[in-house]
Amino acid sequence: KRPAGAPDRSLARPVTKVGIVGAGLMASQLALLFVRRLEVPVVLTDLDQERVDKGVAYVHAEIDKLLAKGRIGGDKANRHKALVSGALSGGAEGVDAFSDADFVIEAVFEEMSVKKQVFADVEKTVSPECILATNTSSLSITEMAADLEHPERVVGFHFFNPVAVMPLLEIVKGERTDDATLATAFATGKALKKTTILVKDSPSFIVNRLLGRFMGGVGRIVDEGTPVPVVDSAFAGVAPMPPFMLLSLVGPAIALHNNETLHRAFPDRFYVSPALERVVAARKAAYYGPDGSLDPEVEALLEKP
Ligand code: 3HC
Repeated sequence: KRPAGAPDRSLARPVTKVGIVGAGLMASQLALLFVRRLEVPVVLTDLDQERVDKGVAYVHAEIDKLLAKGRIGGDKANRHKALVSGALSGGAEGVDAFSDADFVIEAVFEEMSVKKQVFADVEKTVSPECILATNTSSLSITEMAADLEHPERVVGFHFFNPVAVMPLLEIVKGERTDDATLATAFATGKALKKTTILVKDSPSFIVNRLLGRFMGGVGRIVDEGTPVPVVDSAFAGVAPMPPFMLLSLVGPAIALHNNETLHRAFPDRFYVSPALERVVAARKAAYYGPDGSLDPEVEALLEKP
């Protein structure tokens, strides 16, 4: 059955090579998913070699885990590993690596100007039909595409963390996204074995808009003096993951960015927690340490008036 709002699937174009801009947490999970499900060459790019190498190493390590669990055979593991490569973006190497890609997805820092620049650079090297997808969690697809020569090939392709496990994929149609792009996005989402839904190009789409309301709510409770572990313990058995655990999984900076975007769009309805702002300013990546207890530095930041 065709998902609601999806155009005729006969318009979909084949995806034979995937480019991923960014090699961080989300990008490397995307590389793993694309290579496993599409079995086509996937190139991860980033601005420095260390990040690129780390991204590729993550994919290889995850494939090794699947092999060890007996989920895939040795031949498939080797084939998938060989399909993943890394390149520097911005330099000639990165440009060459993308020139024959027909589906490029960006998963770089959540900042409109950065994402626009990425797409402007990619557009110089790929064919006019190459899809430019964005994994943005909150920003406008229409605005991201506005200055491009071919804005009709830009589409939102929003995954959830952990990518391998979460079934949903929000597909976002910008004002100028055409039917061939949308049909390709839906066909690709299906090939990736995700549940695809068409969502409006509005701040934070569906899930993060609702999540932003919830995270603002628990953020306010902490700002009013309730300790984080107490708030989290209130959710035991209620949610798959307590709120501040979830915030640590997605990253405090992403969570803050989401609430800021929503607050800008709907100032009366969304709360931006000053404690969360302090945690992000201190560049903390998680609230909890590896042993599962609250990071003492985070605790001190939360208590600060
Ligand atoms: N990467 C890959 N696989 C993972 C993983 C990860 N980070 N974390 C867990 N898994 C896999 C495990 O390998 C396991 O797979 P298996 O059964 O095939 O071996 C399976 O998930 C279940 O894991 P566990 O038994 O260890 O743990 P749980 O049962 O507690 O499930 C969870 C873990 C699926 C992460 C669950 O806690 C959960 O659903 N949490 C909520 C996640 C969520 O809501 N994500 C959305 C965040 S919002 C977002 O991403 C939007 C963005 O824009 C910010």
